[in-house]
Amino acid sequence: MKTILTVNGKQHEVGHDSRRTLLDTLRDDLGLQGTKKGCDHGQCGACTVLLNGERVNSCLCLTAMHEGDEITTIEGIGSPERLSALQKAFVEKDGYQCGYCTPGQIMSATAMLKEISEGAPSYVSDDLGAPHLSDEEMAERMSGNLCRCSAYPLIREAIAMAAEVKK
Ligand code: FES
Ligand code: FES
Repeated sequence: MKTILTVNGKQHEVGHDSRRTLLDTLRDDLGLQGTKKGCDHGQCGACTVLLNGERVNSCLCLTAMHEGDEITTIEGIGSPERLSALQKAFVEKDGYQCGYCTPGQIMSATAMLKEISEGAPSYVSDDLGAPHLSDEEMAERMSGNLCRCSAYPLIREAIAMAAEVKK
């Protein structure tokens, strides 16, 4: 079967089996290997991409269900010459060790900062109107992105740094 997707602003028509996941389409059919496969079961967040602006685990998405949708991957938010604020902050704060989880962390944090700026509360928000980017908020909101190197403190520092730049 065929599905038309817009990935990082470019339209693609991809031919695929009806069971193909969006993660496999991105990595294996479109060659966008920045998006990582960790668990392939929706448990680690390594495969996080933006789907019409919202963060999703691409290993849990079937390509066939996304006709006409807009996908953004780590390759779409910056380039080595023009890093996004979050990409820069991860480099500056050393927000990684092996780096395998990093694209997923950055994509998830990109959506998370937007969610906070729109006032979306989390389980730990004490002010439902204007959530504040505390360590606790970040830990809760980023809890779907596991880091086996346990670089969490520096990941949170990088996110806080990027949030300051965006103000
Ligand atoms: S590879 Fe998708 S959540 Fe782990
Ligand atoms: S930096 Fe190694 S898994 Fe996160």
